[in-house]
Amino acid sequence: MTSSGVPTADRSAGGSRPPALVLDGVSVARGGQTVWSHGTFTVRAGAVVGVIGPNGAGKTTMFQVALGLLPVTAGRVEVLGAAPRRGNRRIGYVPQNYTAALGDAIRARDLVTLGLTGSRFGLRRTSPAERARVDQALAWVGAEAFAERRMSELSGGQQQRVAIAQAIVDDAELLLLDEPLANLDLRNQQEIVRLLGDLRRERDVTIMVVAHDLNPLLPVLTDAVYLLDGHPHHDEIGQVVQEELLTHLYGTPVGVVRTAQGDLFTRAAWREPQA
Ligand SMILES: Nc1ncnc2c1ncn2[C@@H]1O[C@H](COP(=O)(O)OP(=O)(O)OP(=O)(O)O)[C@@H](O)[C@H]1O
Ligand SMILES: [Mg+2]
Repeated sequence: MTSSGVPTADRSAGGSRPPALVLDGVSVARGGQTVWSHGTFTVRAGAVVGVIGPNGAGKTTMFQVALGLLPVTAGRVEVLGAAPRRGNRRIGYVPQNYTAALGDAIRARDLVTLGLTGSRFGLRRTSPAERARVDQALAWVGAEAFAERRMSELSGGQQQRVAIAQAIVDDAELLLLDEPLANLDLRNQQEIVRLLGDLRRERDVTIMVVAHDLNPLLPVLTDAVYLLDGHPHHDEIGQVVQEELLTHLYGTPVGVVRTAQGDLFTRAAWREPQA
């Protein structure tokens, strides 16, 4: 409801939108083994959520559940107000190691075009309206200058921008990014994080992002989902960035520092013993 009491379906009216993701008593298994269980949480529309947990904890698996690629073994899942289904165009997805898995030949612009036309039968002819949307998405991520180049000729940061353009070109409401900062230098990490902040603010996209290092993402994260001891948990980011919790989560000492400016960051709390 707006302040005038009129219901609105506008994307910016956060309160009236269904949550981006709801898990209710969810368990999931792969190869006959439970990956995680008893997942119960709600990600509100408009959140920017870090998904954290050690290797093999089931972060990618959680995205695959939301994408309707993997059935759950117990409980109920709701994505953007409906049951998960394959090919859901309201979700933009950048898989883990996505750009490394692309063939050498594809051009950046063509990769983004696939986000509109679907990849199953290759590139079909596009309409002027579709081409305009591709241009817009490329401009949005700042990739116009290298749009005609082959993906294999781009830097890691440039490739990640193009991958995000592909994920948003069809106006995704929910963006699932699996380790988008992996292998990027600090500057490129910051630029991608700034882009996520812009997407959240200007396009009102809900974002879930898998990361092993929370630090570069802390300026934009509102919440976190963390996979601890075989169960997913969800909380506000400030509740998750706590020494005890992160130390338990990663199984190695983690310190949390708050600067005089109020910025939070984490650090390895392990020290070489002094001689
Ligand atoms: N296709 C598959 N078939 C069977 N088991 C799988 C498959 N994919 C993943 N698994 C198993 O499911 C568990 C969770 O894997 P998942 O890829 O979701 O972890 P993750 O948290 O994303 O790890 P990482 O940080 O290494 O990317 C692991 O034990 C993994 O071995
Ligand atoms: Mg993974």
